[in-house]
Amino acid sequence: MLRVEGLQKSFDGFMAVSSADLRVGKGEIVAVIGPNGAGKTTLFRLITGEHLPDKGRVIFKDEEITGLPPHEICRKGIGISFQIVNIFQRMTVFDNVQVAVLAHQRKTGKLFSPARALAVEETEKILRNVGLIEKTRSVSGSLSHGDQKVLEIAIALGSNPDLLILDEPTAGMAREETSAAIDLIHRMTDELGLTILFCEHDMDLVFSIAGRIMVMHQGKSIIEASPDEVRSNKQVQEAYLGVS
Ligand SMILES: Nc1ncnc2c1ncn2[C@@H]1O[C@H](COP(=O)(O)OP(=O)(O)OP(=O)(O)O)[C@@H](O)[C@H]1O
Ligand SMILES: [Mg+2]
Repeated sequence: MLRVEGLQKSFDGFMAVSSADLRVGKGEIVAVIGPNGAGKTTLFRLITGEHLPDKGRVIFKDEEITGLPPHEICRKGIGISFQIVNIFQRMTVFDNVQVAVLAHQRKTGKLFSPARALAVEETEKILRNVGLIEKTRSVSGSLSHGDQKVLEIAIALGSNPDLLILDEPTAGMAREETSAAIDLIHRMTDELGLTILFCEHDMDLVFSIAGRIMVMHQGKSIIEASPDEVRSNKQVQEAYLGVS
């Protein structure tokens, strides 16, 4: 579904991503791990078009998407939920998601008059899927941190993506919130047929849900393999697992 080849990006001469390679197959849950500053978020932003790569290619569903603007990449089926919560704090939970659904319908030309009603149905479906249906009328800023992270995911689902990228989906969550998020990630692949690419510092979570793991270190992807292979890889232990 996704192929990243030799991606490179520098900021004012500093190489944030020097050579990243990655493959994500349909229906997979793939994790990117690596220490702070390894280049994980930059890699995700290169895939979603928020950063323009200096070198390399991004291929999604057999089509090169390198350098396309974010809204076009989103329309092609890649959604992202950011590391830092990025919601309209004063809007209700419902409205935050409906805005995303309507924006997507407009972009895909599906916005005819009964669209608002359709968007209501779609919005409620998403909120039910992520477990926020009971909080639809809550002001988003009043939600717990964990629920705000889930709302971010709901907003990303508004564009009906095939590939969902999650940048530290459980960062700052309480233990129960984290296990609910793990269930949600599993349900999104099993029931909604999504493919998931995520990065996370919580190694228990990574090793319990990822089907494959790519390790980044100083802007480079150093290994892409099964969780067992990654765990026993010497280079990884030295670069990352050993120090955490
Ligand atoms: N817009 C930018 N301008 C300048 N430097 C940047 C920019 N974005 C990222 N960097 C630098 O690039 C490097 C990689 O950052 P990135 O955010 O991709 O790391 P990360 O692996 O996501 O880290 P973390 O685990 O802390 O989120 C860091 O040294 C960071 O300071
Ligand atoms: Mg990051």
